[in-house]
This record gives sequence, C-alpha cells and structure tokens, in this order.
Amino acid sequence: MPLDIKSKIQGVIFDLDGVIVDTARFHFTSWKTIASEWNYQLKIEDNERLKGVSRMDSIKKIAEWAEKQVSTEELQHAANRKNEIYLELCSKLTPEDILPGIFALIKMLKASEVLIALGSASKNARFVLNKLGLLTIFDVIVDGNDVSKSKPNPEVFLKATKKMNLLPRDCVVLEDAPAGIKAALSANMKVIGLGDSHELEKADLVLKNAKIISIELLNRIIKTT
Ligand code: BG6
Ligand code: MG
Repeated sequence: MPLDIKSKIQGVIFDLDGVIVDTARFHFTSWKTIASEWNYQLKIEDNERLKGVSRMDSIKKIAEWAEKQVSTEELQHAANRKNEIYLELCSKLTPEDILPGIFALIKMLKASEVLIALGSASKNARFVLNKLGLLTIFDVIVDGNDVSKSKPNPEVFLKATKKMNLLPRDCVVLEDAPAGIKAALSANMKVIGLGDSHELEKADLVLKNAKIISIELLNRIIKTT
C-alpha cells in the first residue's frame, strides 16, 4: 500500500483572532484610537497587515505609517493603552460569539481523537477563550506569552506540534491572516485559510468559514504534496 494512503489527520491547530472569534474588529477599533492620537487615520487595509502580528510589532508598524518618532517607553505606553481599550471590548464576548462551524468542528475532532491546539500571537488568548467558554477544551495552548517571534515566523505552530507530540506534516492549521499562512507553510504544515480567497491565496485551501470542514477533508489535505 502506498505510504500516503495511511496518512491520517493527527492534530489541528486553531488560530484565535479571526478564526475562533471575530476580534479583528476590536483590534481595529483600539488601534484606530491610538493612531488618531498620532494624526494617522488607520485604514482597513492597514488592519489586514496587522492580523497575526504581535502587539509590539503592530505598534511599531503604526508609528512608522504615522511617520512618528517615538521612544521605546512611548511605544510601550501606547501598546498598553491599546490593550486596555481592547480588553474592555473583549469583556463583552460570550459563547455566542464563536464563529460559525468552529464549535461543531472542535466536537467532531474530539470525538475522532484528533488533538486540538491553539496557536495564537495574542497574549490575551486565555482571557478571550475563557469568555467564549473554550478555555479547557484545547489539548494544548501556545499563545503570545510562549513565543519570542511573531508570525510569519513558524515558532508558534512548531511549539504547538511539539507540545502535542506530533509531526508538523500530520497537522493542519486554520488561519485567517496572510502572516499566519506564511508561518504554517514555513513550518511545513498544511493550512486552511478562512476568509477572503484573494488575501489568503497561498493557503492549501480557502473557505468562507469552518462549516464544511470534515475529517475526510482534513485527511485529503494532509495527503496532498
Ligand atoms: C493576533 C491578532 O492574533 O494577536 C493581532 O491577529 C494582535 O491583531 C496579536 O496584534 C496580539 O494580540 P494581543 O491580544 O496580545 O494584543
Ligand atoms: Mg488571526
């Protein structure tokens, strides 16, 4: 029997912001407040470029776009204030905010004994998961507190596979951001993009949402070379 027939999905790594919950709008609102204080009107296209990028890397990019010379202390201060606004918005999240298809997919993976991990750049991941009632459901959580390199660096996904005791080639990543797709591909993993097919064209497959993801589909994706 050819080797690839035996391959079977072993683990799925979920990004958080934009995959499990639509917090991108909260990031956008809070970054917009900071940017406007620097006389910069943050655009929706700018926000696309911030998706998956760590808080400190994001504030550095915004300062650059605003052509603002700021000290490290000011950058840190602005990032802290952004986070206060962001957390206030997130505090209203409930399990109803879980994006379509995600909870059913998690239940199906658990029933099939496929391991599930969170692989997020966010340092607020546990807070957000708790609001959604998902804090204890993941086998492994790797978030912004566990990595030193932001996506598109593959560190977050490699750490998640290692913690699950799995090989990258046996796992699939779910991502909504170009930086995250790049990270998964450089970790040698298959990736499903959730969102706009043009933005996410480098993914192995792009879907509007997680509703049609099945074990069969995941098996098909890891078998493709
Ligand atoms: C990513 C988001 O998941 O987390 C980015 O897509 C965000 O927009 C990054 O900047 C860091 O998040 P946090 O919650 O640590 O500020
Ligand atoms: Mg995301």
